[in-house]
Amino acid sequence: MRIDVLTLFPKMFESPFAESIVARARAAGRLELVIHDLRGWASDRHRTVDDVPYGGGAGMVFTPEPLAPAIREVKGRDGHVVLLSAQGRLFDEAAARRLASLGHLVLVAGHYEGVDERVIETDVDEELSIGDYVVTGGELPAMVLIDAVARLLPGAIDAASLQEESHTSGLLEGPQYTRPPEFEGRRVPAVLVSGDHASIAQWRRAESIRRTVERRPDLLDRADLTPAERARLPRPAAKAPVRDADLIAAYRSGVGSYRIAARFGISPATVRARLRAAGVRLREARSTQRGPTAAEVVRMRATGLTVRELARHYGVSHVTILDRLKKARK
Ligand SMILES: C[S@@+](CC[C@H](N)C(=O)[O-])C[C@H]1O[C@@H](n2cnc3c(N)ncnc32)[C@H](O)[C@@H]1O
Repeated sequence: MRIDVLTLFPKMFESPFAESIVARARAAGRLELVIHDLRGWASDRHRTVDDVPYGGGAGMVFTPEPLAPAIREVKGRDGHVVLLSAQGRLFDEAAARRLASLGHLVLVAGHYEGVDERVIETDVDEELSIGDYVVTGGELPAMVLIDAVARLLPGAIDAASLQEESHTSGLLEGPQYTRPPEFEGRRVPAVLVSGDHASIAQWRRAESIRRTVERRPDLLDRADLTPAERARLPRPAAKAPVRDADLIAAYRSGVGSYRIAARFGISPATVRARLRAAGVRLREARSTQRGPTAAEVVRMRATGLTVRELARHYGVSHVTILDRLKKARK
């Protein structure tokens, strides 16, 4: 596999990949890792790669040039381009497996406020995030991705150790023990020193499921469980009952009964009945028109957006936008 990285800080990649699995994968020729300085594609004297954002606001944004030409050059014919981004899909073990099966990745590490959207639209195949938080630049996320992918490459590490690892089958791995058999009065579970391999495997599987139930119940829906294992899972905790006070606060803030119903998982009729019973005066039902009003469309149109751009902005068809503009002219 080949991985090209486009970054403003190539030196950051030196020491993390000088050791351990990634270094061994490189030395063995399983992974070719090439780190490029994005400024190498800049054409001006100051090697500029960014500019202030249109519309104002803090920070700087990567300009389309030199980024787009740089991506196109390192991508060649077969590169799959990934932008590390706090707004991307979550990078998980399934994504690592998918990427590990590709021959050539191009990773783009953003910085400052991010990247001009047009480059994302034209030159990026997918955006991936390493978690719901913001770090300063895409370098550390790119390193996380490279490490997670490199260890999946054939021969990088012992296949058996991958097999039982957390997230491989959508479950967390169970607890691990090593010598001594007793530490400060705490003994290793007897089954692990029994020599009975079938019982050990059974115990490990049960512990892995138990741990996932306790720590990451959100993983269970997609975990690789047999029907019998699934049937033995504890029932999910009952949902907290919906409080009148929350329904009333949401309604008074202007949200309609349909949206409140969807949010709390009850029917719109129940929402209205409970609001009435709590003495809330219900508003008249809103018109059934969906999407922006004619006035909103006219105001945004005056900023220079095209009909298609307006349609994308409001999440409606261009016919709806034309309809609103027609209504406004009447
Ligand atoms: C300070 S961040 C920009 C955040 C951006 N203004 C936003 O609100 O989404 C700078 C760069 O760090 C990288 N980055 C930050 N958080 C990330 C995350 N959770 N996963 C992947 N990359 C991240 C991205 O490459 C991003 O362009």
